[in-house]
Amino acid sequence: MAAIKSAIPTRRFDAVIVGAGGSGMRASLQLAEAGLNVAVLSKVFPTRSHTVAAQGGIGASLGNMAEDNWFWHMFDTVKGGDYLGDQDAIEFMCREAPKVVYELEHFGMPFDRNPDGTIYQRPFGGHTANFGEKAVQRACAAADRTGHALLHTLYQRNVRARTHFFVEWMAIDIIRDAEGDVVGVVALEMETGETMILEAKTTIFATGGAGRIFAASTNAFINTGDGMGMAARAGLPLQDMEFWQFHPTGVAGAGVLITEGVRGEGGILINSEGERFMERYAPTLKDLAPRDFVSRSMDQEIKEGRGCGPNKDHVMLDLRHIGADTIAKRLPSILEIGHKFANVDATKEPIPVVPTIHYQMGGIPTNIHGQVVTPNADGSQKVVNGLYAIGECACVSVHGANRLGTNSLLDLLVFGRAAGNHVVASNLKQKENKPLPKDAADFALGRLNKLETSTGSEKVQGVANDIRATMQKYCGVFRTDEMLTQGAKEIMVLDERRKHVSFKDKSMVFNTARVEALELDNLIETAKATITSAVARKESRGAHAHNDFPHRDDDNWMKHTLWYSEGNRLEYKAVVTKPLTVDTFKPKPRTF
Ligand code: FUM
Repeated sequence: MAAIKSAIPTRRFDAVIVGAGGSGMRASLQLAEAGLNVAVLSKVFPTRSHTVAAQGGIGASLGNMAEDNWFWHMFDTVKGGDYLGDQDAIEFMCREAPKVVYELEHFGMPFDRNPDGTIYQRPFGGHTANFGEKAVQRACAAADRTGHALLHTLYQRNVRARTHFFVEWMAIDIIRDAEGDVVGVVALEMETGETMILEAKTTIFATGGAGRIFAASTNAFINTGDGMGMAARAGLPLQDMEFWQFHPTGVAGAGVLITEGVRGEGGILINSEGERFMERYAPTLKDLAPRDFVSRSMDQEIKEGRGCGPNKDHVMLDLRHIGADTIAKRLPSILEIGHKFANVDATKEPIPVVPTIHYQMGGIPTNIHGQVVTPNADGSQKVVNGLYAIGECACVSVHGANRLGTNSLLDLLVFGRAAGNHVVASNLKQKENKPLPKDAADFALGRLNKLETSTGSEKVQGVANDIRATMQKYCGVFRTDEMLTQGAKEIMVLDERRKHVSFKDKSMVFNTARVEALELDNLIETAKATITSAVARKESRGAHAHNDFPHRDDDNWMKHTLWYSEGNRLEYKAVVTKPLTVDTFKPKPRTF
């Protein structure tokens, strides 16, 4: 492995984007097409970013299948998020949705089509017409490979626009100057171990989520919370990190995603008695209730002894009645996943499924332009100059306490584009890069050097696996004070252990060991943020289901959590209940 040097090369750009998933490449496209000099760093080849795994669709009220409008979409998003989402941002996202989908269509995205040539839309969880009256088809789909189609479309457009890609490069830490403004990142070339400063007027985090803090996850191995870790180490808060979404249908034992689109196309969940149990829990939306609701119902069935299999630890997703032709046309990947990960032919047998960690609703707090913000004492917000966050690593907050399926792809398109536009405008005003501080790379290189020279006895994967096991055990679908408090204690012990890791295992022949050691620092920040915020929230809301406090408590807990790494402390900020142009949706009991 190459030794870390103290003086490192510098390259200068207008903008540096960390992450080449949907949000990163949507933002970079906006910048490159405006003529800015933009670099995108990615730990993997861009089209292997985790967006590629998104299956079911993009939420937008095109109304191609039946009447629909952005206001119903907004209502579903506010209610689906259990009234914790900021209603100004939600209005913005739902209004922008048709525009960003039609843009993609014009970029050449291969959507499925209706006979009249319009984009095919399928039903999805919590998508309704007329404020919850009945299900509506709002998910714009490219079979069950929507993320794959999206990512390839954006990559091709970026190549045409001459975006610079740094493939298999990892950002280590941001650089802040004396005024606290962000002036670039220190990054590592994964293959060689060489480091470089990428100086930029604007740095955009598009690093995705941190689903790998849990043992059973639909997330890619690259989802290690890198943006959150960098933000936390730079003294910035993380918002609403207690809210993690369990997707109802991960393949039991494997974690691989089975799209909600299966239920959108007519698939149903059944228990060991062959009963379609969601009819009891959600009489109107049934299997298409929001994910937190369905996951809890599945967990309840399993707890009450109606789980399937020898250990009665999962339920079944039955799509046999959909028919082999529809499955082949609309759900080809599901057929393949069923074969490869559950050893079943989904046209003939149901697929064993279990709620599996899928998405973080929280992240780095931003405004609707994607600018990272911190709270002032008077409740107003201060912009961190030069730093933006978009996609899953950001918390705008449009998903509140529970995201609606398909709003993730929508979020990354709307806010990737919005951030891109905002950066273009501010670049026109700021002609020169701010000077780099003399010690620009010291913090990042200090971390690297400490790792390089560590003789500690802890192994990176040992600590990482223990973080995952701890989070899985104590921070699951249902939580209690006792579980969370014990989990928090164990995570703090792991925080100490990770300070003594050494990655110089003689069996290692490639620099992945160094990268995994750096990722561990990001995993632990995200895990601490999650469990500390979860311990504090004494209510049940959305994905945070607390057995000791089984009801939503709007009087005391209608507020966002802000976690700071320094001192492992929390602050709170108000939820924005006032939309941009319409009346507030007032909190109501969530029934479906
Ligand atoms: O079920 C799915 O296809 C996942 C979609 C989403 O998370 O939005």
